[in-house]
Amino acid sequence: MSRKAADIINDQVKKKPNSVLGLATGGTMMGAYAALVDDYKQNGTSYQQIKTVNLDEYIGLEPEHPNSYHYYINGHFFNRVDIPKDQTYLPNGLAKDIEAECQHYESLIEQIGGMDLQLLGIGQNGHIGFNEPGTSFESTTHIVELASLMRQANSCFFNRLEKVPTHAITMGIATIMKSKKILLLVSGKKKAHIIAQLFTGKVTTQIPASILNTHPNVIVIADQEALSLLS
Ligand code: F6R
Repeated sequence: MSRKAADIINDQVKKKPNSVLGLATGGTMMGAYAALVDDYKQNGTSYQQIKTVNLDEYIGLEPEHPNSYHYYINGHFFNRVDIPKDQTYLPNGLAKDIEAECQHYESLIEQIGGMDLQLLGIGQNGHIGFNEPGTSFESTTHIVELASLMRQANSCFFNRLEKVPTHAITMGIATIMKSKKILLLVSGKKKAHIIAQLFTGKVTTQIPASILNTHPNVIVIADQEALSLLS
């Protein structure tokens, strides 16, 4: 699954060496980044002209914090290929004025030409980025308050619940939908229910990812467990 995803990303990079890649973090993506790094080592696919924009970042975490998305993407990808760091962008969760940072990030994405290919994972409730059920399909980059269930689920990574960030910055759903191509990766039994709902084709803000049904160029790569409830 990860190799397949890496093949599609490699194809994009080879066809358009100055592509803008939209990146995601999370467990599902780790294998894909590892496969890209393998390909870089074996075939020397170059990222010298690539620009990247990440979907999201916690507010208040230093980039060096092991749970920050800066730390994740540096460790899994940027530090292992030849991409110049000044061509990689993530929302700045330490900005003094977070509202202004959201607007800045949205205009930055536009300035660099928008994403040619956006990598996406999906939450069990259908979230994409940090866009939880109920988020407007018109939303651009914005601040989100993290649901207490999500904070509890993440508390094991932060030792104490009080240390889990309360807010994050995320690309909005409209931001994501502007990407020319979207690659959704889904793995595991826990995602089977949401994938089955996604494939009914019904579009509702209660399932943020359902908007992908209206995008002209989406590829879904899923494993058998994730597809096990599809009829
Ligand atoms: C991460 C992100 C999230 C994850 C989603 C799935 O940048 O935006 O929406 O893609 O929560 O996470 P995993 O892959 O850990 O199940």
